[in-house]
Amino acid sequence: MKVGIDLIHFATSNYYLDLETYAQEKGTDPNKYLIGIGQEKMSIAPPDEDIITLSAKAAAPILDKIDKNTITAVLFATESGVDQSKSAGAFLHGLLELPNRCRVVEFKHACYAGTAALQMATSMVRANPNETILVIAADIAKYDIDSSGEATQGCGAVAMLVTKDPRILAIEPGSGYYTEDVMDFWRPNHRSTALVDGKYSTKVYLNSLKQAWEHFTESTGRKFSDIDAFCYHIPFSRMTEKAHKTLVKKVGTPVSEALFKSQTQPGQVYNRLVGNSYSASLFIGFCSFLDNAVQDLSNKRFGFFSYGSGCVAEFFSGLIQPNYQQHLMTTSHQQQIASRKALDYQTYLEFYHTDTFGQNNIVFSKNNLGPYRLMDIQNDIRHYVKTS
Ligand code: CAA
Repeated sequence: MKVGIDLIHFATSNYYLDLETYAQEKGTDPNKYLIGIGQEKMSIAPPDEDIITLSAKAAAPILDKIDKNTITAVLFATESGVDQSKSAGAFLHGLLELPNRCRVVEFKHACYAGTAALQMATSMVRANPNETILVIAADIAKYDIDSSGEATQGCGAVAMLVTKDPRILAIEPGSGYYTEDVMDFWRPNHRSTALVDGKYSTKVYLNSLKQAWEHFTESTGRKFSDIDAFCYHIPFSRMTEKAHKTLVKKVGTPVSEALFKSQTQPGQVYNRLVGNSYSASLFIGFCSFLDNAVQDLSNKRFGFFSYGSGCVAEFFSGLIQPNYQQHLMTTSHQQQIASRKALDYQTYLEFYHTDTFGQNNIVFSKNNLGPYRLMDIQNDIRHYVKTS
């Protein structure tokens, strides 16, 4: 039985900070960002946008295409949780009016959790083909002002419907994984921004890739030449190039520049413009590949490398299904990115500092122009509203 991603759609915020504006403010050469880290813009969430409103925006168009009463579970992956006890999925469940005969749980491990949720969903469907599972990966990437990570912020949410006989991607059984207790990126409970040892984090990422790949080849018997396209976790798009170079060197198969590009480049288009979205980033990269590849991807095998600092990594694969093009939501993805409003640095700072972290009574000004917004927090209770 085939199991995998039946529908996929992502959402991002209505605002962005251009890295040229950022470079001007910081007095640095814009090429450090445009070329050096490979980023042009970063999506910025206004204070009345959080992972719940982003994920509702990501999931609603999928629910419009199915009977939402068939959803049997919501598996919600995030590093930017809004409550230490109640799962983000429970807020989402209410906002989207999902059926009560449904299970909801939150998954956490930095940027890796989306893959954990996806793999759990595929196992649940293999065990019971009647399951229809909504997997969400949503994050707002936030670092300290003037830290090395500031230029790699962003935000986004991905919604994936996991079913039997999927129309987009059949996930193949077997994967390679790697865990090591390291401090490359972390966020203690008292902080709203992540701490990162930037250069070290890229080294751990690349070592985890080599280890997970080795395990993947041993456990599945698949080789580099069996895979047509590669989607990597993208903290900044240049990391894809570093990762693929590392993998090519490890397998020792020479790859022409043209093949290298066709194996990786379509996957970077959106992330260059959205920035890091932690757990969602790998899957926004996948949407980017599907929407921007020039050739028909039917029956092509994709390799996915998921990396979460701290660290947990996994390499897995899947086969693109025939006629997948008919089920993509490319127009929505492109319109969202194109219709964002540019922020000046001052307004970015105002949004940045109106953090919901630690707030127990606050009414938000209306900046979120999406279909769902966080209206206020009253006595530590968050109130969300559907606006359209
Ligand atoms: N023109 C062209 N290139 C330039 C340039 C210019 N004017 N100025 C600098 N560059 C190049 C540099 O040569 C460098 O290239 P290499 O990587 O090939 O050496 C690149 O631009 C970056 O420059 P620096 O190394 O000087 O940049 P930095 O030290 O300020 O920051 C970073 C780089 C450490 C990655 C930083 O962005 C960071 O801390 N990011 C957050 C952490 C992160 O994303 N880690 C990734 C792995 S962990 C992970 O994946 C999980 C996650 O999502 C966080």
